Amino acid sequence: MKRVLFSLFIFVTALGAARADEGMWLPALISQRIGDMQAKGFKLSAEDIYSVNQASLKDAVVLFGGGCTGEIVSDEGLLLTNHHCGYSFIQRHSSVEHDYLKDGFWAMDRSQELPNRGLTVSFLQRMEDVTGAVLKGYSPSMTEKQRDSVIRVNSGEIVRAAMEEGKGLRASVEALYYGNQYFLFVYKIYRDVRLVGAPPSSIGKFGGDTDNWMWPRHTGDFSIFRIYAGKDNEPADYSEDNVPYKPKRFFKISRKGVKEGDFTFVYGCPGSTKEYVMSEEVKYVAEVSDPQKIDLRTKRLDIQKKYMNASQAVRIQYSSKNASVSNAWKKWQGEEKGIKKMKTVASKQEFESRFNKWAEGTEYEGLVDKLGALYAERNPYFRASEYYSETVRAVEILNFASGVVATLERGASAAANAESFFKDYYQPIDEEIFVAMMEAFDQKMEDRFKPEYFKEKLASYGSVKAWKDDLFKNTVFTDKAKVSALTKADLESVYKDPAYELQKAFATWFAQDISPVVNEANAKIRLANRDYMRAQMAFEPDKAFYPDANLTLRVAYGHVAGYHPADGMYYAPVSTLKGIIEKDNPDIFDYNIPQVLRDIYAEGGHDDQPVCFIATNHTSGGNSGSPVINADGNLIGINFDRVWEGTMSDIAFDPEVCRNISLDIRYLLFVVDKIGHASYLFKEMDFAD
Ligand code: ARG
Ligand code: GLU
Repeated sequence: MKRVLFSLFIFVTALGAARADEGMWLPALISQRIGDMQAKGFKLSAEDIYSVNQASLKDAVVLFGGGCTGEIVSDEGLLLTNHHCGYSFIQRHSSVEHDYLKDGFWAMDRSQELPNRGLTVSFLQRMEDVTGAVLKGYSPSMTEKQRDSVIRVNSGEIVRAAMEEGKGLRASVEALYYGNQYFLFVYKIYRDVRLVGAPPSSIGKFGGDTDNWMWPRHTGDFSIFRIYAGKDNEPADYSEDNVPYKPKRFFKISRKGVKEGDFTFVYGCPGSTKEYVMSEEVKYVAEVSDPQKIDLRTKRLDIQKKYMNASQAVRIQYSSKNASVSNAWKKWQGEEKGIKKMKTVASKQEFESRFNKWAEGTEYEGLVDKLGALYAERNPYFRASEYYSETVRAVEILNFASGVVATLERGASAAANAESFFKDYYQPIDEEIFVAMMEAFDQKMEDRFKPEYFKEKLASYGSVKAWKDDLFKNTVFTDKAKVSALTKADLESVYKDPAYELQKAFATWFAQDISPVVNEANAKIRLANRDYMRAQMAFEPDKAFYPDANLTLRVAYGHVAGYHPADGMYYAPVSTLKGIIEKDNPDIFDYNIPQVLRDIYAEGGHDDQPVCFIATNHTSGGNSGSPVINADGNLIGINFDRVWEGTMSDIAFDPEVCRNISLDIRYLLFVVDKIGHASYLFKEMDFAD
């Protein structure tokens, strides 16, 4: 208990200023930051941002689906998020006759809005420090296992009690600061969410993967939905009788625009960061993990691109797969470069040596060394685990084989698996990826981490290429009709299929030889990091610490700002329609804008139409779709990305180059009106100024 009291004391006193604009703050504790926010121009109060007693801005922000953010912009449940967040839903409504991805979609009235099975939005009802209740009955003499079980039992009770407070609630207890503090989050989940509008991809995904993670950017990355509720305004399954949800609060829209220096505030759900880890972990990311994953994905992307460029049909099949492989690939490159440029490893080491001096004679003496030893123990295994998932698991047919077997084992037909797999499968790509990935595994993996099965097969075939030829010739998993016809009775022979056998051998090796070691080491690292986190707070009592992101609602504030991406270069903070026209090129898929946009531009007068802007807000994956708010609390944009030079901000934030990228809300209005002809939607919006 002493420990707990001690740590709470630190949280309350840790109010000093963080480095400029770094930080993702807990809304419930925003009173600790509001002074700084107001000093930087914000005109609202802490209660305006977060309150459990009255409507506040938090009531207009939702977790959209499983990993994005959205915001409410009318008292009839109208919701904005990114195009890339709505992408899969837009795709599901699309067919050859109605290609909403390509052409866009605009409901012209409520009856045309499209329901989306499985899509939910979650409103945060409240968040609350429950550290005391979670650790009730815990004593420092307990083992870590006993502590876990105390936490599990107590959290279960807290969650159960919270869920009983109303309809459609979900509650969870989340560890913050590596388990030095626990918060309860209670959400209300609405499950009738309909698609209202989306621009054509040539606007909503303009620039594609070429411009992804980069500035200058010109992507109209938005889509529009509406939340429906039962007649009592409570969550309800889809029904024609449902009515538009009446929010407690919605954002007013500002058309005032932004300029360098303006205050900005991003309210959303960043997914995951690790700002407080020791140098060894950062070193692993920048010197081992990122480079090896980048290298493997470069090979994969090159193979995909080669075939995509040769055939329009293949391009469509692989566009979504290629985008998701490419998204992390590009981020990791920026991250690796950023960590090296910032010399994060060296500055963490310097911090650690000061820390070690301070820790002498305290309970934290030797902690950093201990952590370092744990990482050294874990990393070779962790590397093998990452290598496995980026190589063997990147071969489509192997995943397909294991999915089909799981279906057959359930006694179901694999026809549906086959249908969805072959729709977007191009075998020559997979064959080439098989060869590239297995060769890489052979060349780059230490011998002790190669499964016996792998070594034997490779020896017997003499080369990966020969192995591949044989496997693809003899597997059943390249044949749609045969796979569709499989039943449980076929399992005995399917177990001997070369594709299934290979993936099974690797999965077994992974489960037996790799993941237990990684898991055990990670558990020890987590425990040591809990101490290290608390120790860092004691070491720097005047620093303000924000908890690492965990997809809970956060406040990030900053200001509109350009930056120097490299020596001799400066990027201005605002992009315009003129830049879209400059990039426009009918021969390059990513830059081929719709003709209607060319025509509108040709009318003249639209050169200065704002499109995107950058600012210093500290954001991460999950912040996509987040409202960007000005000093008056009004909506000026929708967050959708970060700049490439700043993607290391999940590990270390550099105020000089870390920038979030937002869609200027005025471009959304422009596209809704001029491209979608859906300006009827403006009637339900509330425009400030
Ligand atoms: N980079 C953004 C994010 O991390 C956008 C991704 C979607 N866009 C794309 N071109 N792949 O999720
Ligand atoms: N596009 C990211 C997302 O989907 C946001 C970019 C980032 O990581 O900051 O959440």
